[in-house]
Amino acid sequence: MDSAAACAPHVAAPNRAPAAADGVVDVGLEARGAPSPITSLRRTSPPLAPPPASGTGTAAIAGDAAATLALIASRRQCSPRRLHPPGPDAAQQRALFGAAASAPDHGCLTPWRFIVVPAQRRAALGAAFAAALLERDPRAAPADLEAAAAKAAHAPFLAVAVTRDDALAPADERLLSLGCALQNMLLAAQALGFGSGLVSGPALRAAAMRRLLRLRDDERAVCFVAVGSVREPRAPRPRPRPADFVDTI
Ligand SMILES: Cc1cc2nc3c(=O)[nH]c(=O)nc-3n(C[C@H](O)[C@H](O)[C@H](O)COP(=O)(O)O)c2cc1C
Repeated sequence: MDSAAACAPHVAAPNRAPAAADGVVDVGLEARGAPSPITSLRRTSPPLAPPPASGTGTAAIAGDAAATLALIASRRQCSPRRLHPPGPDAAQQRALFGAAASAPDHGCLTPWRFIVVPAQRRAALGAAFAAALLERDPRAAPADLEAAAAKAAHAPFLAVAVTRDDALAPADERLLSLGCALQNMLLAAQALGFGSGLVSGPALRAAAMRRLLRLRDDERAVCFVAVGSVREPRAPRPRPRPADFVDTI
């Protein structure tokens, strides 16, 4: 793609959901261009783990930049079963999706979307998890089907990240843009005082799941993004040092 391609104003939404599924909460995505009063959305007790003691190379950086870097460093993967109520309210969800909309996007194609799975649709998601297991293993035991279905109840906020084919951008660029959108959401959740996690797996590719999510043929569900309140923040994990993954020609 021409790297100088201009981004047209986002007037059409070619990858909008065909129709809202019954019971899907409208979080006002049409308002995502509006500035979010982030500070008033923030919970009072953020589950921030202390940043790693070394390896970030941020010793000489102070003020807001240091706080932002510390926030980035403090994000940890939280399993959905460790994400408890309260989850983000409607305004906070708008802030999460607003952060996603800030992702770099070559050609401004928005080659991705998110499908929220609200509380009243978790049973349907559980049934899809069980059906997905049966697709993979027609002899799955009832206890395993039950366990698969139970996963749908975890995390107060759950959305599926979906990527869309687009001849105007290579697949890796589209996936990268979705990855950036997801990371923006995770960091926004952290900034709002929530924990978050990504979960993937073969169930996302199952016919039953595709039906539930009403995916079009040119769409693929990549992972779930889960957000909620964390009771025990996880300790920082040792991060790779820049010297381990940066070379200079
Ligand atoms: C696309 C994607 C899918 C992921 N799926 C899972 C998953 O299914 N289960 C899981 O435990 N973690 C999953 N993760 C999270 C990673 O396991 C996690 O980021 C890694 O353990 C590093 O931990 P950290 O995020 O706390 O640094 C996924 C991450 C990405 C980027």
